[in-house]
Amino acid sequence: MSSTTKTRGILQTSVGKKLVMAITGLALIGFVIAHMLGNLQIFLGPERLNAYAKTLQNLGALLWVARIGLLLIFVTHLRMAMVLTMENRAARPVPYAVNATHKASFASRTMIMSGMIIFLFLVYHILHFTMGVTNTEFAALKTPEGDHDVYKMVIMGFSNPIVSGIYILAQAFLALHISHGFFSVFQTLGWNHPSYDLKVKLVSNGLAVLIFLGNSGIPVSVLAGVIK
Ligand code: HEM
Repeated sequence: MSSTTKTRGILQTSVGKKLVMAITGLALIGFVIAHMLGNLQIFLGPERLNAYAKTLQNLGALLWVARIGLLLIFVTHLRMAMVLTMENRAARPVPYAVNATHKASFASRTMIMSGMIIFLFLVYHILHFTMGVTNTEFAALKTPEGDHDVYKMVIMGFSNPIVSGIYILAQAFLALHISHGFFSVFQTLGWNHPSYDLKVKLVSNGLAVLIFLGNSGIPVSVLAGVIK
């Protein structure tokens, strides 16, 4: 049997699909952390954030490779989520009766909903900051050196309390999704054991809280006038 046939075979099993979800999910969490650390440079001043944005732009073709890679990972994660959900529903059209001893957490029961909200947020976020479709005035913001003034764009964007509110709400759903998603990776990979499941849960929740605080700290600080 060729390795391609073997890979296809694994992907036909629900364990294989869960594995793909876990690996793509981890990669997306990695991106979210890296993106947040990059964005937090806003607290170091306009020069720092704009220099960071320029470094990314200067990657040229490599930036496009990263963008396409990220898009493929994102689409694969969504596709596997849809397939697994449909398969689970087909296998069990009548839901389990509520089992008080093993009640699924709120985050785990709402993964599809939080995932869909993150998707909608992402579409809005790219139209807002990357493409400037919602705010055409962003394209004209330039630094004295003639580069795109990302710092000013973020301050202007978050000066609108409704926009900031949307971002903060989306970060709450992202945190909810990650709190269960990160924990699930350990279950899928078989790295679970009753003796340390609680610790893994605490780490997952801690990571989710840090991502929520780091990301929503930016709109909150703009609204509070801490960064301007
Ligand atoms: C409040 C938190 C966030 C801030 C301040 C922020 C800021 C930005 C900015 C300024 C850009 C455009 C960069 C440029 O034009 O040079 C951007 C792009 C992007 N952001 Fe965010 N972001 C936040 C949260 C998120 C989250 C939670 C995700 C993912 C779930 C995300 C995913 C992306 C993606 C995929 C791009 C497009 C990257 C590219 O094509 O270059 N962002 N973000």
